[in-house]
Amino acid sequence: MKKHVVLALCLLVLLMNPDSTQQYACDKRTSKTSEFPFCNTSLPYDVRVKDLVGRLTLQEKVQQLVNKATGVSRLGVPGYEWWSEALHGVSNTGPGVIFNATVPGATSFPAVILSAATFNMSLWYEMGRVVSTEARAMYNVGQAGLTYWSPNVNVFRDPRWGRGQETPGEDPLVVSRYAVNYVRGLQEMEKDGNSSSDKLKVSSCCKHYTAYDVDNWKGIDRFHFDAKVTLQDMEDTYQSPFKSCVVEGHVSSVMCSYNRVNGVPTCADADLLKGVVRGQWGLDGYIVSDCDSVEVFYNSIHYTATPEDAVAVALKAGLDMNCGTYLGKYTENSVKLGTVEESVVDQALTNNYIVLMRLGYFDGDQTQHPFGKLGPADVCTDGNQKLALEAAKQGIVLLENNGTLPLSPNTTKTIAVIGPNANASQVMLSNYAGIPCGYITPLQGLKKYASVTYQPGCANVSCSDESLIDSAAKAASTADATILIVGLDQSIEAEGLDRVNLTLPGLQEKLVMQVANATPGPTILVIMSAGPVDVSFAKNVSKIVGILWVGYPGQSGGEAIAQVIFGHYNPGGRSPVTWYPQKYVDELPLTDMNMRANRTRTFPGRTYRFYTGQSIYSFGHGLSYSTYSKFVKSAPTTVSVPLKSSLMLDPHNTLLPNTITSATNGQAINVSKVNCEGLQFDVEIGIKNVGTMDGSHVVLVFWKPPTSDAVKGSPNRQLIAFDRVDVKSGKAETVKLKVDVCKDLNVVDEHGQRKLVFGQHALVVGASSEHQVRHHFYLKQLTTEEAMLSMY
Ligand SMILES: *[C@@H]1O[C@H](CO)[C@@H](O)[C@H](O)[C@H]1NC(C)=O
Ligand SMILES: *[C@@H]1O[C@H](CO)[C@@H](O)[C@H](O)[C@H]1NC(C)=O
Ligand SMILES: *[C@@H]1O[C@H](CO)[C@@H](O)[C@H](O)[C@H]1NC(C)=O
Ligand SMILES: *[C@@H]1O[C@H](CO)[C@@H](O)[C@H](O)[C@H]1NC(C)=O
Ligand SMILES: *[C@@H]1O[C@H](CO)[C@@H](O)[C@H](O)[C@H]1NC(C)=O
Ligand SMILES: *[C@@H]1O[C@H](CO)[C@@H](O)[C@H](O)[C@H]1NC(C)=O
Ligand SMILES: *[C@@H]1O[C@H](CO)[C@@H](O)[C@H](O)[C@H]1NC(C)=O
Ligand SMILES: *[C@@H]1O[C@H](CO)[C@@H](O)[C@H](O)[C@H]1NC(C)=O
Ligand SMILES: *[C@@H]1O[C@H](CO)[C@@H](O)[C@H](O)[C@H]1NC(C)=O
Ligand SMILES: *[C@@H]1O[C@H](CO)[C@@H](O)[C@H](O)[C@H]1NC(C)=O
Ligand SMILES: *[C@@H]1O[C@H](CO)[C@@H](O)[C@H](O)[C@H]1NC(C)=O
Ligand SMILES: *[C@@H]1O[C@H](CO)[C@@H](O)[C@H](O)[C@H]1NC(C)=O
Repeated sequence: MKKHVVLALCLLVLLMNPDSTQQYACDKRTSKTSEFPFCNTSLPYDVRVKDLVGRLTLQEKVQQLVNKATGVSRLGVPGYEWWSEALHGVSNTGPGVIFNATVPGATSFPAVILSAATFNMSLWYEMGRVVSTEARAMYNVGQAGLTYWSPNVNVFRDPRWGRGQETPGEDPLVVSRYAVNYVRGLQEMEKDGNSSSDKLKVSSCCKHYTAYDVDNWKGIDRFHFDAKVTLQDMEDTYQSPFKSCVVEGHVSSVMCSYNRVNGVPTCADADLLKGVVRGQWGLDGYIVSDCDSVEVFYNSIHYTATPEDAVAVALKAGLDMNCGTYLGKYTENSVKLGTVEESVVDQALTNNYIVLMRLGYFDGDQTQHPFGKLGPADVCTDGNQKLALEAAKQGIVLLENNGTLPLSPNTTKTIAVIGPNANASQVMLSNYAGIPCGYITPLQGLKKYASVTYQPGCANVSCSDESLIDSAAKAASTADATILIVGLDQSIEAEGLDRVNLTLPGLQEKLVMQVANATPGPTILVIMSAGPVDVSFAKNVSKIVGILWVGYPGQSGGEAIAQVIFGHYNPGGRSPVTWYPQKYVDELPLTDMNMRANRTRTFPGRTYRFYTGQSIYSFGHGLSYSTYSKFVKSAPTTVSVPLKSSLMLDPHNTLLPNTITSATNGQAINVSKVNCEGLQFDVEIGIKNVGTMDGSHVVLVFWKPPTSDAVKGSPNRQLIAFDRVDVKSGKAETVKLKVDVCKDLNVVDEHGQRKLVFGQHALVVGASSEHQVRHHFYLKQLTTEEAMLSMY
């Protein structure tokens, strides 16, 4: 009986849907409409889109402005779900992705905050490439879309932000490099692709534009929050990853956020959307709202008088696509009322459709697409899963080691594995995850190296009672070594949930201390969290011989942790955030967007760029089982800056004196006055591995601008270049890094303008916790005489 029902259902499904794979436009088999010019692949996109939009009624048009676009069946254009996510693997957080028996899971990489800690740009690109291959494979069997609203490139400004886990950390350069590489990996048709091709493998989206990093802190939520941002912070912190993402990453979408910036909801801000993203940066793609930020700025803050006004103001500001329903509901009426012109709607549709055309959605038979042959066998391949493990291993940060780590499997026969995250599975995946190919929990990973006793110690990370602590201490008392895996999870830091403090929740500290006291052997403390935790209590405990930070390490996190602890992999990850003490946040509202310190109001400043107080671990901190020595092999001592030729040849140019004397140090010039073309130099850094283990070393190059009265609020120091390099024991390697004077060595003034400061600059190689090497050079104006000489 049952079988018959199933059979009948299958038949019905087959009859209704003769083609079980993804529907697409311009299908020659099911519609005669494939002869329309919009289906003609020989025509340019703008001609095709004009043809398509020209065929639509207003009523049809407005139904295509929302994530669940209805399509236009009379034209053979099926409905399309715009909302898919792929933050660190194909994710079913959006309705565009579904997992079922055909493709039951996809490779789940670590949370971005841990991948960022690898400081490995080729890894970031490679992850994007793998994710887009799995996405295409899933699209081909109808389980995923082509438009992915990832990555999140907001700067992790305050350690309490619940969504810091989604981001590449606190430094604008790291966030920018991550964005460019991951986006290119997702979008490019070929490996190291030909950028002259505007075809897209999948479409990526940089979000949430802009100055979005408060979710819900002490009752202040993102829907009501008005971020007060100075021009200076806007330019050199909040905007800069988005600019890189659009200009260098060629991302095909940007998402505006829920919050307001200086009074204006970002999705209603024409200066930000039309002016900056599309105008100044030249976005080739569509602007989408967060879900549903248009409704939010109407309902939560009554930014406009009516819903019709809300959609009009958003469309006129440059919004093209609405995650949510608002534009579908109110745009038609808004046009009829004359609040917004139909041509504005047409422009929005055009921006959306061109992206779908670049994806091949209007090219007919999808199996003919260059990625049309991918299928379920291309998801969760061994190679892809190995990359997820690799990312976790490369990212793990060794915070402390008194020399006991790595543990030797020869002498460590029994281990006690303890803590609320000791057998974490889902927790390792962080948020915006899909269903993973599989899990290796820390407990499972460690079992491969020693005989294990496991005690959670607390029911969960909230650790609200001590009932399980005694049995944990007992387990530790008989083990050769104890591994405590503590930290946070989505009940503490999450979307819609910011932390209020930096300490381990509940009785976790107590658990750590009691277990450490009970164990005769070494104790290793493993922090599984995205945001940094105040672990100062553990630093002085002599029994705690090592501390690791493992982020949320993804599907193979447990294997990665075990490989690091037992020396199968030599850790090289670096913290992408500053680890502040609890007292840092005691007096500091999460909602204060200022980056720069201000003594008058005892504001300490944020991130290593502006905060000079005590930290538990600094940005870029991370140990290795090896020791490296480094030196500057070559770098210039003087860099001459040519002005634009019009200024250069002006005999009355008294802009600046022509020679460097102490009097001219600190003078600043607008970058727009400089002839930046070719104004670059190389810095060569030598790294020698003087330890006994092969390893990989992250080279961080910070820059210290001269102090200048002309520009207030310069950063203490700022990362301008980095790379990760393998160095075998006893061997030396050279890393060559390019410095672009105009791009990398400018400081932003209080008006948000970028300036070059003349005088003595310094390069500092290495994080503040490691041996640093300094190199000084002068930045001076190229004199007219020198310019003349070089011309003849
Ligand atoms: C497609 O456009 C090209 C270029 O205009 C034209 O030569 C060709 O006939 C068109 N194809 C169809 C099927 O209309
Ligand atoms: C999985 O979902 C896709 C898309 O809806 C469908 O075509 C496929 O038949 C489903 N597979 C199974 C086993 O249900
Ligand atoms: C990129 O593609 C264009 C057009 O197909 C071609 O002219 C160009 O040589 C290619 N460039 C590279 C670097 O492959
Ligand atoms: C562990 O034992 C193996 C085999 O007995 C040996 O080859 C290896 O060197 C030992 N490792 C350490 C760290 O002592
Ligand atoms: C550890 O977690 C895995 C995956 O959730 C589960 O199958 C296993 O039973 C857990 N082990 C223990 C000892 O709780
Ligand atoms: C954590 O465990 C406690 C005690 O078992 C329970 O009351 C609480 O609901 C749990 N919290 C979460 C977030 O699961
Ligand atoms: C710190 O915050 C967590 C929730 O994020 C809470 O469980 C804990 O009680 C807080 N601790 C203190 C000392 O306020
Ligand atoms: C750690 O030890 C140092 C020196 O022994 C001491 O100054 C410091 O106060 C201790 N810190 C903590 C958190 O116990
Ligand atoms: C590390 O700490 C442990 C426990 O306190 C101690 O036995 C060991 O000698 C220390 N190792 C080094 C190299 O200091
Ligand atoms: C520092 O704060 C004071 C008091 O709010 C303010 O007047 C001053 O402008 C601030 N200084 C800077 C450099 O932002
Ligand atoms: C500096 O350059 C910007 C353009 O980058 C321009 O808008 C501004 O007016 C210039 N400022 C000065 C003081 O020349
Ligand atoms: C960077 O990541 C890639 C991809 O996993 C890997 O092949 C390479 O070895 C990594 N580089 C370093 C120095 O670790």
